[in-house]
Amino acid sequence: MLDPDLNPYTPNAGAMPLALTGRSELRADFRTLLRRLQRGYTDKAMILTGLRGVGKTVLLNDFARTAEDVKWRVIELEIPKRGADSEFRLQIAQGARRALLSMSHPERWRDRVRTAASVLRSFSIKVDPDGALTAGLGVEPSFGMGDVGDLSLDLTDLMVSLGQAAQEENTGVIFLIDEIQFLTSSQLEGLVMALHKTVQRSLPLTMAAAGLPQIAKITGDAKSYSERLFSFSEVGPLSVEAACEALVEPAAREGATFQQSALDECVRITEGYPYFIQEIGYTLWRNAHDTVFTERDVDLARVDYMARLDSSFFRVRLDRASALERAYMRAMAELGAHPHSASKVASLLGRTGNQAAPVRASLINKGLLYSTPDYGVAQFTVPQFDTYIKRVMPQLVVPPLRSRSGA
Ligand SMILES: Nc1ncnc2c1ncn2[C@@H]1O[C@H](COP(=O)(O)OP(=O)(O)OP(=O)(O)O)[C@@H](O)[C@H]1O
Ligand SMILES: [Mg+2]
Repeated sequence: MLDPDLNPYTPNAGAMPLALTGRSELRADFRTLLRRLQRGYTDKAMILTGLRGVGKTVLLNDFARTAEDVKWRVIELEIPKRGADSEFRLQIAQGARRALLSMSHPERWRDRVRTAASVLRSFSIKVDPDGALTAGLGVEPSFGMGDVGDLSLDLTDLMVSLGQAAQEENTGVIFLIDEIQFLTSSQLEGLVMALHKTVQRSLPLTMAAAGLPQIAKITGDAKSYSERLFSFSEVGPLSVEAACEALVEPAAREGATFQQSALDECVRITEGYPYFIQEIGYTLWRNAHDTVFTERDVDLARVDYMARLDSSFFRVRLDRASALERAYMRAMAELGAHPHSASKVASLLGRTGNQAAPVRASLINKGLLYSTPDYGVAQFTVPQFDTYIKRVMPQLVVPPLRSRSGA
């Protein structure tokens, strides 16, 4: 038995891995973005898209460290599902408050920072009527700025004033937004409009966001200029080389090694997906008897690996689905791992496309499926979900039609 205290793998959502591999290009892009804005140049805000467990949150956390290292102010938001505009406004206001207070003590604020604090007060009046959030800022609300009630206009006022404050203080502000696909269209539109304005003014304020793949389509719908405002990068599974590194490096730190065949097997099972890599490493450590990992060790660990994935990573997703939604996903799995057209899935369920459309829409809404740019084609947001669902639902059972109009 190896010492469980020394297990160096991190199979937890958002947990910084010991070896953050295969992402050097995106990390370099982010550093370039900050440097360019700091110099007064403009650049596109970053949007990372990828399936569940590929390491989007980890990258945003890494970006936060990078930004802090160069003394930028970091505003981190995680967007809740179906969050109201007021909640979004409050999240932004809290982040802006912290950013302003970190620039200097309110008594020493210079003009632009003071102005931004006033705009923040007006911006938050509706969501913080008793002023608790902005108490202690020592400024009056700035009437007519940030208080119109229209999210896009108010957010634009706030972001522009924050950017100007940062410029005055010779720093920058970076919004790091996770689960961005959960923004409603009005929230997203507000963000797009506000960023559009900060780019026009060449202010040192920008955003790096992460979300499920459908976000590319959503932002496209939000405002036609979003293509010019954002650079989209896909965060995918790790290359074979990066996957090996992600396994080998943590083990090496605790004095363990992999035989090549064991490593090959791990890469094959996980297909390079970071979450799966951490889980296989973790269970391998739990089950191995010796510090040289062999293919047999991987075989032995595999039962534990599957059980842990099934009971956590996969099951939480299935638990969120209704019986009909499960059947829909089971039908998709029946058709194979690649994306499927809505009509094919519907016909396997003995329904017309129209009858099945609400189920599909609800699965997309719950974040279990996303629709790819080819219209009408959907895919699982969780890697290897098709094989999981076949394991727990060996047979495709077609639920009866409830009524003539029901799906
Ligand atoms: N580049 C990487 N190298 C090695 N391990 C990684 C890497 N990126 C992420 N991981 C590991 O993968 C797992 C998933 O990471 P993370 O939570 O960031 O994924 P995510 O894309 O945000 O997933 P979700 O969509 O479910 O929020 C974590 O256990 C993390 O330690
Ligand atoms: Mg995440």
